[in-house]
Amino acid sequence: MALIGVFDSGVGGLSILDESLRQLPQHDYIYLADSANAPYGERSSDWIAQRSLALCQYLASQGCDAIVVACNTATAEAIKQIRADISIPVIGVEPGIKPASMKTQNGIVGVLATEATLKSDKFNALLATLPGNCQFIKQSGAGLVPLIEAGKADSEETFELLAKHLEPIQDAGSDTLVLGCTHYPFLRKSIRKLLGDSISLIDTSDAVVRQLKRQLESINQSVDATGKGSVTFVSSKDGPALLNMAQDLLSADLNLHALETKALGAVLGGV
Ligand code: DGL
Repeated sequence: MALIGVFDSGVGGLSILDESLRQLPQHDYIYLADSANAPYGERSSDWIAQRSLALCQYLASQGCDAIVVACNTATAEAIKQIRADISIPVIGVEPGIKPASMKTQNGIVGVLATEATLKSDKFNALLATLPGNCQFIKQSGAGLVPLIEAGKADSEETFELLAKHLEPIQDAGSDTLVLGCTHYPFLRKSIRKLLGDSISLIDTSDAVVRQLKRQLESINQSVDATGKGSVTFVSSKDGPALLNMAQDLLSADLNLHALETKALGAVLGGV
């Protein structure tokens, strides 16, 4: 079985881990959350690139066969450098603006992502490849990630902030919304409450895991979904707290897997 590293600034990448455990439960996973440094979305490009590279090098040193950079912000700022430095398959995640442009009926698409993702060259280069008849309403979700990290995804405070961020998207008449940060699928219920059932929500976790599957096949790893592997949660803040959050946020039954937690500082010498 393969060992797969899944990395995010915090708990957002659990939305990708959840889908991975559903489609590829037989493999072993290391989920790495840099919770001591979240949110990444308001940090500089250089900082995000260096930190993301160091954490992916750590995952590679643990013997991972593939790494999923389960963070739109880290993918936007660092994936090129990570791929150049690490020889195993590295799968990234990008806001699903292309599928959204194909799905929208009225051509008005909201994009909710971090400030860093929206400003990044990678995101803007992708945007430039899309047909000009689609209007993208780009909105930073500032402040949402820290609330989700604090276990307040379903709180009134989060709901109110989300309502404020979604207002321009709603006012423009968007019929499609891109969830451009892996933390945002955990706000799905509140988004539905605010925007209704008819808006299409675009979340790329299924596409990311299908890409992971293809990459595993290309390195001759089994994609036959039988058996259950282990999941190790590594956090730069608090491993057991991360495991508790995972148990709350994941729809996959974690208890079917062998579970372990580790502190990143201890294994990485404080990087
Ligand atoms: N989950 C990360 C993303 O997909 C987030 C964010 C952050 O730390 O700001 O962009």
